[in-house]
Amino acid sequence: MDGLRRLEYRGYDSSGLALFEPGGIKCFKAVGKIRELEKELTTNSLVGKGGIAHTRWATHGRPSFANAHPHRDCRGEVFLIHNGIIENFQALKNELCVRGHKFTSETDTEVLAHLIEEYYSEDLVRAVIRALRRVIGTFGLAVISAREPQKIVVARRGSPVILGIGNGEIFAASDASALVSHTKQVVYLHDDDVAVLTPSAYEITNLNDPSIQRQAQTLEWDVSAAEKQGFPHFMLKEIHEEPEAVENAMRGRLLEDEGISKFGGLEPVLDCILKMNRLILISCGTSYYAGLLGRYVIEACTDVAVEVDVASESRYRKMNFRPGTVVLAISQSGETADTIAAVREAKRKQALVLGLVNVVGSTLSRETDAGIYNHAGPEIGVASTKAFISQLTILYLLTLLISRHQDMSLSEGRSFLRELQSIPAKIRCILKGADKIERLAKKYSQYKNFLYLGRKFNLPVALEGALKMKEVSYIHAEAYPAGEMKHGPIALIDENFPSVFLAPQDSVYEKVISNIQEIKARRGPVIAVGNEDDRELPRYCDDVLEVPRTEEIFTPLLTVIPLQLFAYYVAREKGCDIDQPRNLAKSVTVE
Ligand code: F6R
Repeated sequence: MDGLRRLEYRGYDSSGLALFEPGGIKCFKAVGKIRELEKELTTNSLVGKGGIAHTRWATHGRPSFANAHPHRDCRGEVFLIHNGIIENFQALKNELCVRGHKFTSETDTEVLAHLIEEYYSEDLVRAVIRALRRVIGTFGLAVISAREPQKIVVARRGSPVILGIGNGEIFAASDASALVSHTKQVVYLHDDDVAVLTPSAYEITNLNDPSIQRQAQTLEWDVSAAEKQGFPHFMLKEIHEEPEAVENAMRGRLLEDEGISKFGGLEPVLDCILKMNRLILISCGTSYYAGLLGRYVIEACTDVAVEVDVASESRYRKMNFRPGTVVLAISQSGETADTIAAVREAKRKQALVLGLVNVVGSTLSRETDAGIYNHAGPEIGVASTKAFISQLTILYLLTLLISRHQDMSLSEGRSFLRELQSIPAKIRCILKGADKIERLAKKYSQYKNFLYLGRKFNLPVALEGALKMKEVSYIHAEAYPAGEMKHGPIALIDENFPSVFLAPQDSVYEKVISNIQEIKARRGPVIAVGNEDDRELPRYCDDVLEVPRTEEIFTPLLTVIPLQLFAYYVAREKGCDIDQPRNLAKSVTVE
């Protein structure tokens, strides 16, 4: 149950547990929060010490008792839990129905329980392996059988599974945060690995290479990183960790005298990076917006042409990875199925693929040719905040690295680094003024819509600000380039439709002020994020969220902070489930 609670942040709609108990396996399920499952357990006295448990995020079939995992075979002997999608489940289900199997759920997962039953004569592992050979799709799987107590068979393809090696106890989980309070010794399973766990030992084989060996590794973070430490929500805690996220992203990577950055993980491919003329950034959601900013920054400072793609769409383009092209996949979790699929496609076409990933040992960190870790620590809140700031910081450092090998002078490089190093203190200043943002959130929490507008470096910030608002507060918020507003969205504006403008005093400030006036002329309320000593801006706006000054190129590192806080406080005002917003999952391991 402790493990399930630590995984709550990943998003779920029902949960369940199956335990080896004297006399057989006992299974419990509940719809809704984990506390509903806990209620079920307290009314039963349980002594079992081995078992499997799961939180489900619905794909096939609505959240319900019947669809919650564990799923079982016809005899009630085999129980299993599964992350991922069995793509050929309908064909398998038809075949199993003909053979007399009775299904009780709408899930794709249940087909696995019956398929294993079909092949199960004496040895559970062999039955699991035979079943998995017939499966098309992805799985992170754990299976138990009443006939073989104290044994758990786990397997992975596409969905993460990590083993935790304890003292006289062995764990498996889809995420290290569930293991870290028990052990820091872990083994990451690779695709097509199957492992057999008993209380004191584990054995790993691979469907394609039975002789495979996997090394144990030591997790670097501890339990406190995955706890709230006095904050009411992980999201607020993680926003307050952003100054350190910037510092940690820079740690050990600055050569201040030379005005340049370095990344140990890129050393083996540095030559190719410095020779590239085209960079394709691939990612999803917030990480995609980091990529969008990366394009503006890299193109502003280097000769490299940058393309940015939403990973789920990149496969529909005829990608040409001609010589000189490098791909950079950006992902906090390193487990996002769409990004992994895009990376595999790029690798198939022989492209050099780099990763910018936060979770150490994740699939993307292993499948990319070389890469950079964020070192932002675990991000537990479903809405990404500190990982975004960290991704931006690293994209600035990457820009500096390339640019210093092109036109950027030593003094420009040093001043670039100085300015970046001043950012954490400026973020701390913004965080000190959080109570003003909280008051503003009270004023605006009743609105049903928001329009976020920005130009140039602050367009990605507008997009990210709107995404944060809709994710945690469920208020409709959309973002546009401020210049596009008059080409359509302005039709929405009236006194009930506020706009949030990104308006630091930069090279596009005057144009943004004109756009603000266009909104005010239509009685739309305006909130602006602007510089703290800007005396002009408050004259045009209803409210201003202030940020310190910095060079234009670095403004996103500051302007996004008030928008994260604004979304957080609006959601809090509305009583939303901020760390686990409805329908969302932290790692999106399905396509
Ligand atoms: C938004 C959010 C998502 C993720 C997206 C990609 O707050 O968290 O939009 O950014 O699912 O996830 P990663 O970065 O793990 O690949």
